[in-house]
Amino acid sequence: MARILVTSALPYINGIKHLGNLVGSMLPADIYARFERQRGNDVLYICATDEHGTPAELAAREEGLEVDEYCRQQQQIQADIYRQFDLSFDHFGRSSSAENRELTQHFCRRLDDNGLIEERTTQQVYSKADQRYLPDRYIIGTCPHCQYEAARGDQCENCTRVLDPTDLLEPRSAISGSTDLELRETRHLFLLQSKLAGRLEKWIDQQTDWPILVTSIAKKWLKEGLHDRGITRDLSWGVPVDRKGFEDKVFYVWFDAPIEYIAATQEWANEEPEERDWRSWWYEADDVRYVQFMAKDNVPFHTISFPGTILGSGEPWKMVSYIKGFNWLTYYGGKFSTSRKRGVFMDRALEKFPADYWRYWLIANAPESDDTDFTFKFFAGGVNKDLADTFGNFVNRCWKFTQSRFDGVVPEGGQPGEAERQLAAVLDAKMAAYTAHLEEMRFRKALADLRAMWVLGNEYLTHAAPWKVIKEDPEQAAMMVRTGMQLIRLFAVLSWPVIPSTSLRVLEALGEKDEIPAWPSGSAVDDLQALAPGTPLGELGILFRKIPPEEQESLELEFGGESG
Ligand code: MF3
Ligand code: ZN
Repeated sequence: MARILVTSALPYINGIKHLGNLVGSMLPADIYARFERQRGNDVLYICATDEHGTPAELAAREEGLEVDEYCRQQQQIQADIYRQFDLSFDHFGRSSSAENRELTQHFCRRLDDNGLIEERTTQQVYSKADQRYLPDRYIIGTCPHCQYEAARGDQCENCTRVLDPTDLLEPRSAISGSTDLELRETRHLFLLQSKLAGRLEKWIDQQTDWPILVTSIAKKWLKEGLHDRGITRDLSWGVPVDRKGFEDKVFYVWFDAPIEYIAATQEWANEEPEERDWRSWWYEADDVRYVQFMAKDNVPFHTISFPGTILGSGEPWKMVSYIKGFNWLTYYGGKFSTSRKRGVFMDRALEKFPADYWRYWLIANAPESDDTDFTFKFFAGGVNKDLADTFGNFVNRCWKFTQSRFDGVVPEGGQPGEAERQLAAVLDAKMAAYTAHLEEMRFRKALADLRAMWVLGNEYLTHAAPWKVIKEDPEQAAMMVRTGMQLIRLFAVLSWPVIPSTSLRVLEALGEKDEIPAWPSGSAVDDLQALAPGTPLGELGILFRKIPPEEQESLELEFGGESG
């Protein structure tokens, strides 16, 4: 039994996440975690909300709440939606936890002991009207390069140039609009990443099996040279800095957020201290395979910054074993945008279709080697063709025929022949490919294998034609129908990581109660005997409904499908 630690990038606390966030981190992580659990491995899947930073403070203020209360509410709202999407976290924590505060401060002390922290005086923009320092992105002004009037202090959205707040012409506060800004001197802690570059490079070079998408981003950063990085901020919301003269400061959100992967595991263990041991997953945990899931914008933080924190601590914390990165899911050719509310958000998605429709389509079209463009037409096409017409239809055909001709019981009798031997041979190959692709986290390929198996089921049934055979040879027809029911069971087990709710619905109707259906043996001859003859079929109903063109259009209108 292998021990596999899985984490997905921690979603920001402010706002309900959209389908792009889901497919780029939590959904693939969940599918992988479920698959490995089915194979009997000891899996721990950890996630949490990323709660610090200015966006959370401002969102709280907009809602008229204290920031800690705002975060408490939003964390519950998110946890609830993820539960409805069947995301099977072992723990869904909060980066504002006491555990994370302790551990973040611990890492800073260790880095300091190892000569990797330096206090430096910097100049920071202070807004007298807002009575606070302004982080770079909350200073707005005219871009000196392209004259765009709403450029942010960190980057111009129009010409994409990276900026310093002091570059902006006519700077103003994004919070109040006030132009009464001044530069003040302030002390901050810097992590001397430059000193870690050699070790990080060596470590990255060892990761020969990682996706190019991931290693190329890491190598680009290393090549450009690692800059020492300010890890504290003049804010009040965050992990406090336990150091003299830093009483009014907190750690930078990107410093404490990844540490929450560990701290959330401590939160998990603290719920059942007798049973659970966080240390065995994170400290001197050589037997653990640790896999992270994230979209590509997160890769630098997980290949450079967080590993730098760990290496610099000089302590034997677990380093990531494999990073699965994703490109973007776009929405009608443009960006999904939380701030502009553009795209399909997870709460609204569930109002329209059950989680499995979304889970299936998103992972079957995951932006792995390229971006994927979401449109309702594309979505409906996948649901209609693959889920309704292929898997759903196959189940329906077998079910109906068994009910009408075999009293709704998996029939006995008959001997498998050449057609069944051929079916088993092709299935063996497809199952092996599907398993390997899931193991390698090549999700689009895996889903193509799964679809191919569903198609195979339909083809088998059409060729066997038990509704004809039954007239001359009822025994033979019984064997065919039984084979069909065995296929249904096998498909349900194999589909569980992707469409867990539908899978369990089918298995329950076949009298199976396991919460985690064990992965098949991979030998189809054996796997097609799992269901005992005589098993009564429960009520199932329609598994997936089709989405007609009129509905696709009205969804487009409702969600704003125009490009932009
Ligand atoms: N909240 C970040 C984002 O959505 C991800 C944080 S991942 C962590 O981009 F590891 F830093 F927590
Ligand atoms: Zn510009």
